Amino acid sequence: MFGHIPRSIRAAVDDATRAASIHNSQPWMFVYRGDAVDLWLDIGRAPHVVDPLGRWALQSAGAALANLELALPHRLRVRVSVTDFPAGPATPPKGLVPITRGALPPALQDLTAVPVATVRWTGGPVDPAADEDALFGAIEHRYTSRAPFAGTALNERQWREIAAAGTGRGVSTDPAPEDFVRAFLKLTAEVESRMVDDVAYLAEIKRWVDRGPREGIPSGAIGARDTAGRYPGRDFSVGPDEWGSMLPDGEFEGRLQLAVLYSDGDSPADWLDAGRSLERVGLRATASGLRMGILGQAIEQPDTHRAVSEEFSASIGRPVVVQQVVRLGYGDGSARPAATPRRRLDEVLVAG
Ligand SMILES: Cc1cc2nc3c(=O)[nH]c(=O)nc-3n(C[C@H](O)[C@H](O)[C@H](O)COP(=O)(O)O)c2cc1C
Repeated sequence: MFGHIPRSIRAAVDDATRAASIHNSQPWMFVYRGDAVDLWLDIGRAPHVVDPLGRWALQSAGAALANLELALPHRLRVRVSVTDFPAGPATPPKGLVPITRGALPPALQDLTAVPVATVRWTGGPVDPAADEDALFGAIEHRYTSRAPFAGTALNERQWREIAAAGTGRGVSTDPAPEDFVRAFLKLTAEVESRMVDDVAYLAEIKRWVDRGPREGIPSGAIGARDTAGRYPGRDFSVGPDEWGSMLPDGEFEGRLQLAVLYSDGDSPADWLDAGRSLERVGLRATASGLRMGILGQAIEQPDTHRAVSEEFSASIGRPVVVQQVVRLGYGDGSARPAATPRRRLDEVLVAG
């Protein structure tokens, strides 16, 4: 069925699908076009209560783009160039979940008829730089952790590498200053307690946990609950019929170490770039022997998102928009959680 798509391209797209995505919804589709791969957003597949604007769906696509950009030079030994939202007519591939355009968040309505990115190969042979090779090598090992970390602090070199990996296009990545961490965790805890009272949110969480063999988050990966209340992670054990959290208790690190991904603007292009940075931060952390988690709740709600951005802007002395916050640390010796599944390659890759 893939006869006309070279094996190396299939392998690179398979690498792309290892990326993080909101609730492991994998809202993407890839079209092979001979000298390029188009990445399409499959927005009808993405959860929308947790993502009223489409920010998380586009970040998920950006995360897949990051892997594709690393994998193609590695697998094909070619140089690549990326065009975000390429202009010109394009036909959406078969297999996207049907949507009613008008029902989409306004920012996404114009994005349904174009790929979110085209990755074109522009010549070779090329040997990818060593640091990019390290990121490529981490693709199959990266995962999102919701478990306690050891208290050990990251060293300066690790922070420098994380910042470098997550900085590019319009996005910067910095370690979060302590006063920001305090304010951010408080806002996140507030949103989390608000969300677990929202029946639509709970029903959506329930639909995405143990969803099946190809999508969603297995209950073996939902982590633990911080009895001391320092880690306000998203609780995936809740549901409309459950009374409170079903997570096991955990003893989390005393001081959470957070990286902040931020940009000047807040357009779909910024969201795509932030997703790319998010994945690269996860890969860099993994390559350095660290674990990573994501604390998105306060960013997906407009009121707390404004407050988060204001807090961070005040701490760096210029107005910016926070796009994502990543928790980093060493493992505490606990085993890797259950692996999140992926859709089959023939469901996400077609020849155009
Ligand atoms: C844009 C985006 C937002 C996410 N937000 C959260 C979050 O708030 N809390 C969380 O625990 N995981 C979050 N995740 C992680 C996903 O649940 C995870 O990537 C997905 O289940 C696939 O698992 P893996 O990362 O282990 O491969 C987010 C991922 C993305 C790409």
